[in-house]
Amino acid sequence: MKFQAIKGVRDILPPDSALWNRVEQAAREVFGTFGFAEIRLPVFEPTELFARSVGQETDIVSKEMFSFWDPFDSRLPYAIGAEEGRHRGMIIESEEEYGALALGDKFQQLSLRPEATASVVRAYIEHGMQTLPGNVKLYYMGPMFRRERPQKGRYRQFYQIGAEVLGSSDAPGIDAEVIEMLLAFFERLNLKGAILNINSIGDKNCRPAYVELLRAELQTVRDQLGADSQRRIDTNPLRVLDSKLEHEQAIIEKLPRIADHLCAECRAHYDEVKRHLALRGITYQENWRLVRGLDYYMRTTFEITAPGLGSQNAVCGGGRYDGLVELLGGPATTKGIGFAIGTDRLVLSRQESGAGEVAGGLDVYLAWFGAAAQPAAVKLARRLRDAGFVVELPAVEMKFGKSLGLADRLKARHAVILGEDELAAGVVTVKRLSDGTQQKLTEQDLFSFLRESRASD
Ligand code: HAM
Repeated sequence: MKFQAIKGVRDILPPDSALWNRVEQAAREVFGTFGFAEIRLPVFEPTELFARSVGQETDIVSKEMFSFWDPFDSRLPYAIGAEEGRHRGMIIESEEEYGALALGDKFQQLSLRPEATASVVRAYIEHGMQTLPGNVKLYYMGPMFRRERPQKGRYRQFYQIGAEVLGSSDAPGIDAEVIEMLLAFFERLNLKGAILNINSIGDKNCRPAYVELLRAELQTVRDQLGADSQRRIDTNPLRVLDSKLEHEQAIIEKLPRIADHLCAECRAHYDEVKRHLALRGITYQENWRLVRGLDYYMRTTFEITAPGLGSQNAVCGGGRYDGLVELLGGPATTKGIGFAIGTDRLVLSRQESGAGEVAGGLDVYLAWFGAAAQPAAVKLARRLRDAGFVVELPAVEMKFGKSLGLADRLKARHAVILGEDELAAGVVTVKRLSDGTQQKLTEQDLFSFLRESRASD
């Protein structure tokens, strides 16, 4: 039997993994300068957490989560009856039995996280972080899980780098600073051609009336819409604006726009966000159809698209979610805003633009010949590594031609040759593999030579 990674998940292999590390490292550095600190979160949570925050009717919660019933949760009562005890072995033998478990209160449904904002808010409340001074600024990175139809840039296990600001202020300057940080990160990575889209989707004062107006308008054109949009008229009319269906575009363009229906406070907030963006020299496009696929947003929403990604070109999405902390049982005064970058897409976009190569690799292939040279080679390898050079040391003696051939294939910059002659003379032979030039050097000169060669690369 041959095993393969399941559909929609993949391995990230060297040398790609070096680029991933570099991207993640850049995020740590840039976010750090804005005062963000890392939070590490569990990859599974009660299903209910996502249902409440992301929204029961969203695609993510209604059809894309990987969920399972957990009978072993430590919060479950321990006094169990014979019937449940039987289930503790967790052998579900039939559909009915599974159904019975689902109905029982004693078992908890868990889901692999489809996103991390809900977990950050859960942790914020659980650890009473509202008592911390100033805004709480957190970033995270790691895998998320959604049962989507796999295609280029869309996976079932994908990775996000995200950041959230939680605190008592909803000042528009915070929105702009979060976006500034995001763009600073893209700039650090030399990502070209990214486009920032922004919108405001109002709050609980003005959005309900707009949604009703939208629903009423959509009812009048119901027959001309596809099945998905028809369903959304009832469940979540805003999501119709997201439709990519060709024949729906002309209809959508004629629908009422939220910008014309914002309350005075939301309008002022949005205007201030734009002023703060301008203050930072940030250019953007306003996109009235940017409603996002998660229910917790209010006021500011934004998305960034990057080139080279085909239809899955959203490399980052985010927005403000002022009511979410309260919704999950935390203080009503806490506001929030954040974003998540799709790391897979970011890496892909860089690779498509030809900026995917990461310099690095092997400085020295240390070819040793003769039993007496081995201990000297082992020690030299250690000193080179202590000095920060990347060294490959053959574990067994090889024939000269084979050894140097391997150095070539490993793309080493230099072969350092240590045989009995070199040992006797207290030198090594260094061969630059790009042009074949070679010279004999003392150990001290070898270190300076390697340093210079690295600097000039
Ligand atoms: P989201 O728009 O659902 O937002 O996801 C953010 C980003 O994750 C997307 O723009 C995309 O780059 C990437 N992404 C999503 N699904 C997939 C997939 N199946 N395969 C590859 N990449 C994917 C959120 O998750 C919110 N939690 C963002 C946020 C944070 N809002 C406020 N704070």
